[in-house]
Order: sequence, then C-alpha cells, then structure tokens
Amino acid sequence: MTVVDVMPAGDVPPGTMVRVEVEGQPICLANVDGTFHAVHDTCTHGMASLSAGWLDADMDRVECPRHGAYFRLSDGAALTPPATASLPVYPVEVRDGRVLIDPVPNIPHPFDTP
Ligand code: FES
Repeated sequence: MTVVDVMPAGDVPPGTMVRVEVEGQPICLANVDGTFHAVHDTCTHGMASLSAGWLDADMDRVECPRHGAYFRLSDGAALTPPATASLPVYPVEVRDGRVLIDPVPNIPHPFDTP
C-alpha cells in the first residue's frame, strides 16, 4: 500500500480525534486507547463533519454532531439512524511515531457514487 505521512502520533492522544486531509479527502482520525482508526470525515446521512462530533472511545464509535447517528470506527458501520450507509475506512498505521494513512478506502463514500 502507498501511505501518506500525516502527523506525529503524539498529536492525537488516546480518546481524541482530528480532521485531516489526505490527497484531498477529509478523514476523521481517531485514537481509541492507542489504536488509530481512519474513516471518511463526512457523515453518510448529511454533510456533517464527524470529527466535529463526539468520540465514544469506550464503544469504538463516533457520534455525528448534526443528527446523532453513531458509526463504528473500526469498520465504518452505521450503527444507528438516521444514517444507514457505512463510512469508507482507510488503512492506518503508526511507524516511528508517525501516523501513516493509505488514501485508498475500502469502499467509496456514497456521496461520491454516481
Ligand atoms: S448529518 Fe449525520 S446523522 Fe444526519
């Protein structure tokens, strides 16, 4: 996989998340107890930025700030309405203290699908 060096891992402490742009794609990067997850930052229900929502690290999920849908961070699954479509997930790893993200997601974002 081709990865992009995004930032120092220490800039995203456990229990926090940030919005990053990788090759033009908005990504929500979350640290869940030391494990990093990267999902598309745009809610599949509307145009809300998930990184502006709330991280529930204990439950491996993020809550959309607009209508409250939950998404599982590890696989992007939409857990609660009104969202029904999964989020794209990006491979992420930490190497030498740096967060590396592969900008090719597992699935396209539904808003990008014709
Ligand atoms: S925009 Fe996210 S739940 Fe509606």
